[in-house]
Amino acid sequence: PYGTLEEMRLHRPRYLQTHENGARSWFFTTYEDVSFVLKDARFIKEWRTLLPEDERLANEQREPAIFQLFQKWMLFRDPPAHTRLRGLVNKAFTPRMIESLRPRIEAIAQSAVAPLREKDRFDCVAEYAFPIPVAVIAEMLGVPTEDRELFREWSKVLALFIDLSDASEEELVRGGAVAHDMMNYFYDLLKTRRSVPRDDLMSAMLAADERGDRLSEAELVATCILILFAGHETTVNLISNAVYLLLKNPDVRQDLLQNKMIFPTAVDEFLRVESPVQLTSRFAAKELWIKDAQILRGDEVNVSLAAANRDPAQFDNPDAIDLRRSPNRHLAFASGAHFCIGAPLARAEAEIALRVFFEELNELECVNKKICWRDSAVFRGPRALPLAIRR
Ligand code: HEM
Repeated sequence: PYGTLEEMRLHRPRYLQTHENGARSWFFTTYEDVSFVLKDARFIKEWRTLLPEDERLANEQREPAIFQLFQKWMLFRDPPAHTRLRGLVNKAFTPRMIESLRPRIEAIAQSAVAPLREKDRFDCVAEYAFPIPVAVIAEMLGVPTEDRELFREWSKVLALFIDLSDASEEELVRGGAVAHDMMNYFYDLLKTRRSVPRDDLMSAMLAADERGDRLSEAELVATCILILFAGHETTVNLISNAVYLLLKNPDVRQDLLQNKMIFPTAVDEFLRVESPVQLTSRFAAKELWIKDAQILRGDEVNVSLAAANRDPAQFDNPDAIDLRRSPNRHLAFASGAHFCIGAPLARAEAEIALRVFFEELNELECVNKKICWRDSAVFRGPRALPLAIRR
C-alpha cells in the first residue's frame, strides 16, 4: 500500500470523500496532520453525541449487539467516560507488572520455539507469532491457555467488525453470537475471581481506586474482551512483520543479532516500517480548518498511521530500516489520549520473541517469494509466513 499512500501524501494529503447519503470522510496522510488529529480534543470517538437527541436514541436502540459491546470499550469513548475507564485499567497495567512478566514471556517463547527446531518447514504466523501473545494475555487475565483457539476465532470476528463499515445481516448475527459468547465467558470467570481472588489482571481491575471508584461488572467484562482482542491481534502482526523484514534483509538481521542491545530501538523501527495498525479514525466535534481543509462538524477523519510513519518530513530516508533510529517518534501506537495502553507489553513481547526465534533457529528462509497480506484496511500482517530450515 505504501506507493499509494506516498502518492496521496504528496498530491492529496487531505483527501475528502462525500458519500451518497451526504456523509463526509477525510483521509489524512502527513505526519503533521495525523499527529494533530490524534492529539486535539476536538476530534472525538463518540460520533453519536453529534446527532440530534431523538436520532441518537433511535440509533442506540437499533444498535447490533456487537457494536453495543464496542461502545463500552475505552477505545471508542471520550472524556469523561474515557478518562475514568482508562484510569481504572491503567492502575492494573503498571510498568512494574510488565517487567515482572519478562521471565514468563521468555519461557513462553522458548516453549513455542522448541517444537519448530524439529521441523523442516513451519508457518511462523500460526506456529510462533500467534501462540506467544495469546498465552501472555491469557496468563495476565488468568484464563486457561487451553482456550486459545477459541480466542483466535473470537478475535478474528471482532477484527472483521473493526474493519467493516457496512456489515451484512448475516455478519451481524455472527458478530452478535460472538459478543454473547465472549461476555458469558468473562462473566463466569468474574464470578470465580470474586470468590477466589488471584494475582492477575482481572483481580487487580476488580479492586477500587483510591477514591473508591471501581469498574461495573459490564465495564469489566467489556474491558477484558478489549484487552484480549487488542493484546494479541496486533502483537501477532508485529512479530510476523519483524520476522518477515529480517528475513528479507539479511544484513539488517546480522547487524541485529551481533548487537543485541539495539533490540529496543529495532522493535520501534519495525513498528514504524510495517505498522500493525495502519489506520484509525475520529469525528470532528466542531468545525475547524486544517491548512486549506474546512472540516465540518460530524465529518469523519481517517488518519493513516502507516503513511505518517513513512513521511520524509518527519523521518530521514523513511523507507529504509535503521535499527538505531533515534529519535523515532512513530505513531504506530497512536498518540494523545488513546495512546496504546499495552505499548510496553507489546514491545517486551516482540523483543523477547524475536531474540529467542533467531537465536534458536538460524538457517531460515521464506518458502514463498511473495507473501500474502491480511485482507484488511486496518491491520497489517502476513496471513501466513511459511519458512524452511536449511539443513
Ligand atoms: C489502543 C496499537 C498492543 C491494549 C491502541 C491504539 C493503537 C494501538 C494504534 C490507539 C487507537 C486509536 O487511537 O484509535 C497497538 C499495537 C500493538 C498493540 C500496534 C502491538 C504491536 C496492545 C496490547 C494491549 C493493547 C499488548 C493490551 C494488553 C490497548 C488498549 C487500547 C489500545 C486497551 C485503548 C486505549 C484507549 O482507548 O485509551 N493500540 N496496540 N494494545 N491498545 Fe494497543
